[in-house]
Amino acid sequence: MKKVLTVGVFDMLHIGHILLFKRARALGDYLIVAVQEDDCILKYKPDTRMVYTTAERTFMVGALKYVDEVVTYRDVDQDIQTIDFDVFAKGPDQNHAGFRRAEDWCRTHGKEVVVIPRTENISSTMLKEYSKTR
Ligand code: CTP
Repeated sequence: MKKVLTVGVFDMLHIGHILLFKRARALGDYLIVAVQEDDCILKYKPDTRMVYTTAERTFMVGALKYVDEVVTYRDVDQDIQTIDFDVFAKGPDQNHAGFRRAEDWCRTHGKEVVVIPRTENISSTMLKEYSKTR
């Protein structure tokens, strides 16, 4: 069975996230989504105001039909090493140093890396900004 892994914050779940899961799931037979823990997110996105807790984000992602398993993670380059998968499906925006180390680890450990294009004109940040104006 070919297992695909994708990771992210997934606050205020939106169409871009669901399309990512659909495309990632189509790369294999089983999709694992790793949801980042609240307290780590501010390290990478200091200006972020989180709407949902880790438990809520995990619950919502796990309720989707494209998702077979949900786990949580703190640092992608460390935690990716503890997950059993074959393909790492990542977004083009996931390119900070931790992601670059994770990609290097994938390449030296026989894991395929696939970049899935973002859906245009939607993001959690955009939804948060919009909700402030309502
Ligand atoms: N993603 C996507 N299309 C979008 C938004 C996100 O494909 N329009 C993907 C990202 O490329 C990444 C994953 O969803 O692989 C998780 O991204 P996340 O940072 O949680 O979503 P954003 O909406 O980009 O959140 P933020 O605005 O806080 O950066």
